[in-house]
Amino acid sequence: PIVAIAAAGAGYLIGSLPFGYLVAKANGVDIFSVGSKNPGATNVKRCVGKKAGNIVFLLDAVKGFIATGWPMILEGQSIYYGLIGLVFAVVGHSFSLFMKFRGGKGVATMLGGVVALMWPAALVGVLVWLAVFYSSRYVSLASICLAISLPITNLIIGEPAILTWVSLALGLLVVVRHKDNIVRLMKGTENKFAKK
Ligand code: G3P
Repeated sequence: PIVAIAAAGAGYLIGSLPFGYLVAKANGVDIFSVGSKNPGATNVKRCVGKKAGNIVFLLDAVKGFIATGWPMILEGQSIYYGLIGLVFAVVGHSFSLFMKFRGGKGVATMLGGVVALMWPAALVGVLVWLAVFYSSRYVSLASICLAISLPITNLIIGEPAILTWVSLALGLLVVVRHKDNIVRLMKGTENKFAKK
């Protein structure tokens, strides 16, 4: 149980690290007041630059990977401990201890943890993301489809039920965090990433 508590606490703290905010701030931008006002890789790419956005994506994904991976390694590859780290990392990212409980939408952090815990679903999710993004140019729609694909993939390939249920819960959290994007998508006013 001590590892479970540590996985939750460390997961929340690691997830809370506000890389999007910090990288934007280092470039003189307050990410909470520009673009979609979201402290995630997409908005950093939109408002600061491509390189900064990619760095934020990588750092946010690594947060999820580490928070999920270390308790698993310590507990003989137990998916249960990994799941605790993953869930708390995504919650920490979305409701950061260091950002007055504001935060991002959890996509990169979730993906990093999912790579450690259920890589086939991660692989399918990335393919779904690429297909939706390159056909629509909407990052938000691609992220929502990725989130929904995770429990579906886990169900189809017969992963342990707990992975399907937790990925369903996380997927729903990510969809709810995109509520403003969903409203804009329906109104036709969502930001598109233009072809270069
Ligand atoms: O992961 C966030 C992305 O799906 C949407 O970002 O800035 O367009 O709301 P944004």
